[in-house]
Parts: sequence; C-alpha cells; structure tokens
Amino acid sequence: MSDEHTGGSVETSMHIDPYEKNWMRLTIVLLVIFAAAVTIAGFALGFQVPSPEERVDPQTVATEGPFADPGLREYPDGRYDLYIVSRMFSFSPAEVTVPTGAEITFYVTSVDVQHGFKIQNTNVNMQIVPGQVSKLTMSFDEPGTYDFICTEYCGSAHAQMYGRLIVEG
Ligand code: CUA
Repeated sequence: MSDEHTGGSVETSMHIDPYEKNWMRLTIVLLVIFAAAVTIAGFALGFQVPSPEERVDPQTVATEGPFADPGLREYPDGRYDLYIVSRMFSFSPAEVTVPTGAEITFYVTSVDVQHGFKIQNTNVNMQIVPGQVSKLTMSFDEPGTYDFICTEYCGSAHAQMYGRLIVEG
C-alpha cells in the first residue's frame, strides 16, 4: 500500500523537451510582436482607446452642463462635438445628422447604470459608466446611416436601446 506513494517516478531534474523549448521561444517572439503592435498602433497610427474624459455626477449631469442640452455642437474650424446621454433604455439624442468627413468628438455618459455605445461598422465602441464621460474622435468618410447600439446588458429593454447617426454627403 505505502509503495503507491513512492512508486511513481518523480523527475527531480528539469528536463525540457526540445520541442517545448521551441514553443517557449515562439511564445516570447509573439509577446514581443504583440507589444510592438500595440506600441505602433497607439503612438504611430494614432489608434485611440476610449478614455474616461472626466468625472461627472450622474444625478445632475443631465440637468446642468453640456449634457443638459445633448446633441451636436459645431465649431468655426469645422469640428463637431456630440454630447449623448444614455439611460435605460434610450440614447438622447437618438438620431443625429453629421456631415461626411467632419471630425466628430463623441462625449457619452450615463445617468443610471452601465451602458455600451457602439456604432455599427466602425471602430467606435465604448463602455458608458455612470459618473464618467467617455470620449472618442471619429470622422465618417462614407455617407450613410450608422446605427448605434447599447452593447452592455442594462435591463429588460436593453435590446431596444439604439439610435441612428446619419452621415450626409
Ligand atoms: Cu443600455 Cu443595454
């Protein structure tokens, strides 16, 4: 009976199979490539990660400041800011028209629970957290209608939470 505990061959010296060594090398090479890709995407290509722009009070954000009057703001230099309030279960405004090619900075916040903001067929995809403003800049070169949807389950009518961005030529 007691032999069962000592009978197994336990290797005490570290033996690494040559194949395994090659896999370990490959893993390290891949990690270096991934790190390089993230660095290049972030610094050279200007990819953006949605950034928490500022902290706000979800109780008052929809009644004071820029989110009290959500929608599109145009600046003399041709840029736009777009303020969107999300709540169960809608975006405000739910339909926005923007010109083709214009640089649009999205500011999105929530007054209740966590939502998502994803514009179909684009890279715009942000988590919307109450108490925070999520910000992302984007321009649309193709005219058309882009649906934006909530991507974070937020309750019974989550699937009905969407809006439309119309890009006019
Ligand atoms: Cu809002 Cu799902």
